[in-house]
Amino acid sequence: MSAQPVDGTDAAATPATGGEQIVTPWDVEGADGQGVDYDKLIKEFGCSKITAEMVERIERVTGMKAHPFLRRGMFFAHREMDLILDAYEKGEKFYLYTGRGPSSESLHLGHLIPFHFTAWLQKAFKVPLVIQLTDDEKFLWKDMALEECERLGRENAKDIIACGFDPKRTFIFSDVNYMCTPMYKNMMKIAKCVTLNQVRGIFGFTGESNIGQVGFPPTQAAPSFPDCFPHMFGENKKSLRCLIPCAIDQDPYFRMTRDVAPRIGGYKPALIESRFFPALKGESGKMSASDATSAIYVTDTAKEIKNKVNKYAFSGGQLTVEDHRRIGGNLDVDISWKWLNFFLDDDEELAKIGEEYSSGRMLSGEIKAKLIETLVPIVEHHQEIRNSVDDAQIDAFMSTQPRVFASLFGDMGDIAGALDEATLANAKPGVAIGAPAANDDGVKKAQQTQAQTGENGEPMSKSQQKKLLKEAQIAEKKAKQAEEKAKKKAEAEAAN
Ligand code: TRP
Repeated sequence: MSAQPVDGTDAAATPATGGEQIVTPWDVEGADGQGVDYDKLIKEFGCSKITAEMVERIERVTGMKAHPFLRRGMFFAHREMDLILDAYEKGEKFYLYTGRGPSSESLHLGHLIPFHFTAWLQKAFKVPLVIQLTDDEKFLWKDMALEECERLGRENAKDIIACGFDPKRTFIFSDVNYMCTPMYKNMMKIAKCVTLNQVRGIFGFTGESNIGQVGFPPTQAAPSFPDCFPHMFGENKKSLRCLIPCAIDQDPYFRMTRDVAPRIGGYKPALIESRFFPALKGESGKMSASDATSAIYVTDTAKEIKNKVNKYAFSGGQLTVEDHRRIGGNLDVDISWKWLNFFLDDDEELAKIGEEYSSGRMLSGEIKAKLIETLVPIVEHHQEIRNSVDDAQIDAFMSTQPRVFASLFGDMGDIAGALDEATLANAKPGVAIGAPAANDDGVKKAQQTQAQTGENGEPMSKSQQKKLLKEAQIAEKKAKQAEEKAKKKAEAEAAN
């Protein structure tokens, strides 16, 4: 099939199965050459549909009109988004986590979708965000040098930054460069909870998979826990809940993460998931990443966009003008219509185009012209901002300089001045100033009640509970020891 995973997976690399649909982070293929059956996917994966009520609730809670991707169902599935909203309404904060596998120099329009949506979520909820560049993942899966994946990550960061994130509350990191003790510790804790049989089931690994691939999933799982980022969120695993906007092909990673979360003392990350972006040449027929005519790149010129849309955009129009006037265009397959649904903001204008085109009053060439007229300014705007992103700006987004925890939320502005002197004086090197302490009791109690139930609210086994209690006790002991040590050190310093 041709749906293009938003992460740029080359679906052409997938062997034909001629049967069941396959959706993994690396392969997307509909059943028997058809498009993806999203209802079936929701059932299979066990996520929930985003309802009209939920969209309304998001608007109410944020006081903002829902993003077109939300109100038009491009983001269509979720896991525990309701819980995030419940908590948010009670004043509890969360952070966003998304990412990109840097496998190519220039992104196509589909790649921008999760980032534009994430930028909207960041603005609407006024929350911080971490963006993972999985240069390691691409190295393990593609025939590319690790250093080349790193370089592409930094190049891609420019396109990501151009989507409009706030540097004060956004952290972009490359796995290869950021890897640090807190991240590694989370990865090891996660890895120990997952067996080879489980990852085979979840990701389809085989005996031929290299062991880096088999061991990779904890690397993408770990950023779901805030203590991977002490300079942003402090050292408490439950300082914040996590919400992950992503394309639904990433769900397997986070199904695994959610399963493991209570066992390592963390919140299960919540998810908000999108459909795949349809390929220019249509949703039935193979899509290839090496075929430059099957996508529009963010680097394309206005002329290239015009040519590609006119030549290649799959049309739902009829063969002759007479037939078209009589039968009308088929909105179910027409790519110009589908893309307009992604990129044309104006609801009224969109509805009118749909009406005109499907009734046959608007011709295929005319709807293509509408699409070109919509895309060109979007791409040109992107190019303009991207070209202005310099090294200093990238470095600022990737900086591990401790941030002031409170200033990551709410309306813009730095409230460092509002912190009391003791907080500032006790700030630990490398740790966000004013973040909840690692041994915060309130946080821990909440953690213990939640941990009594596993995935799907099923009660945990006695031995799991026992293990958890033991872990909590050890954590408590360790925190006490650390406190005592710090006290002694302070006393010694005072005596000097
Ligand atoms: N694996 C993703 C890709 O290949 C990148 C990624 C890492 C990601 N972490 C993520 C995507 C979190 C969405 C959410 O593009």
